[in-house]
Amino acid sequence: MKALYVKTYGCQMNVYDSARMADLLAPLGYAPADAAEGADMVILNTCHIREKAAEKVYSELGKLKKLKEAKAKDGGRMMIAVAGCVAQAEGEEIVRRQSAVDLVVGPQSYHRLPEMIARIARSGGQALETDFPVEDKFDALPVQTGVEGPAAFLTVQEGCDKFCTFCVVPYTRGGEFSRPAAQVLDEARRLVELGAREITLLGQNVNAYAHDDWTLARLLHALARIDGLARLRYTTSHPRDMTDDLIAAHRDLPQLMPYLHLPVQSGSDAILEAMNRQHSADDYRRIVERVREARPDLALSSDFIVGFPGESDKDFDDTMTLVREVGYAQAFSFKYSKRPGTPASAARKQIPEEVKSARLAALQALLSEQQAAFGKSCEGRTLCVLFEKPGRREGQAVGRSPYLQPVHVEGAAALIGQVRDVTVVEAQPNSLKGVLSQ
Ligand code: 5AD
Ligand code: SF4
Repeated sequence: MKALYVKTYGCQMNVYDSARMADLLAPLGYAPADAAEGADMVILNTCHIREKAAEKVYSELGKLKKLKEAKAKDGGRMMIAVAGCVAQAEGEEIVRRQSAVDLVVGPQSYHRLPEMIARIARSGGQALETDFPVEDKFDALPVQTGVEGPAAFLTVQEGCDKFCTFCVVPYTRGGEFSRPAAQVLDEARRLVELGAREITLLGQNVNAYAHDDWTLARLLHALARIDGLARLRYTTSHPRDMTDDLIAAHRDLPQLMPYLHLPVQSGSDAILEAMNRQHSADDYRRIVERVREARPDLALSSDFIVGFPGESDKDFDDTMTLVREVGYAQAFSFKYSKRPGTPASAARKQIPEEVKSARLAALQALLSEQQAAFGKSCEGRTLCVLFEKPGRREGQAVGRSPYLQPVHVEGAAALIGQVRDVTVVEAQPNSLKGVLSQ
């Protein structure tokens, strides 16, 4: 057996892709390892969304180079691969900057890994594949032979045609593409047979899912009929694609968890316009209202960018106002980061770093306060929890609430893989403590 170490950065789709790469390499004799030291193959599955994320890759590659040299001294060989969105965006630049890299493969061509590895083994040198091939990656991937736990991810849609002016995704993941419903349903059934009890449907624009006359709502209805599949989620959504049928699915499908990640990015109409989001802050407020009408216990999460070019104090205040009005259970917020090739990176009115930092701190303080308040509001409530793994203490198990909060329960170790009612006894900053309900 050869040891394969995969390090994943970025979004949940990268987590899914990493698992699929491991599936793909298993027939070649590669078994997963939990450290890069001594591994025969190391894959960095990278993220290009912000500058910081992309830079981590080069510092990691520096460390890997030393491990590779150490292994070579012992007469072994470590192959280093860069996959994911940095691979797609930077291609050859990566091998130029770091000669220890053997292989660069983009997110739409990783099904070609086995032949790339064979090519290098045969004739040495480096291999690079960053096209958007005409053949379907998903057709070429082997079926899953295992799941990591009862909560599984399933990519149903990839890419983006929306071209928000800050974002690299249309360039790294390509145009919008939806997998055929039959393929998705087969994969879901298989995941359930392998032990999944919850499936999160993934897509950069998951609610833009469209294949033949299938929509995301229709797909969710079909998935809800799979025996043994207790919970469904989907992420990430664009406000423009929150269609009536999808909102109705939140009312009609008990399996669909009452939690929605719906990024708004900014609360200012001028900034939303400059971002090319194609909706106003009020459009977003109305969508939130309608989803909450459909499912009153629904909790919301979002992404925010502060310091987008041209953002005034007033624009930022509009974001703070929107956050106060909507009320989030959880959220991610980032300083605007210039990404090569995107329209906003060329804008003249870039915001100074100190202003970005001050705005981010203010926004994060408000969001943490809301998250803590949401946690507190769960105290005394009974929530359904899917137990995912053992906790740190003997007999303890950790699961997730409908709202994705980690929930720690004593004496529940035997319940991993099951959904149980849990009464929340105490909210901690990032998790809940509960007891099994009688
Ligand atoms: N700068 C900062 N944040 C960004 N995001 C995407 N592109 C950028 C950028 N250039 C954030 C958005 C998106 C999340 C995944 O990352 O908020 O929703
Ligand atoms: Fe990062 Fe976006 Fe690529 Fe995911 S799709 S890895 S978030 S750049």
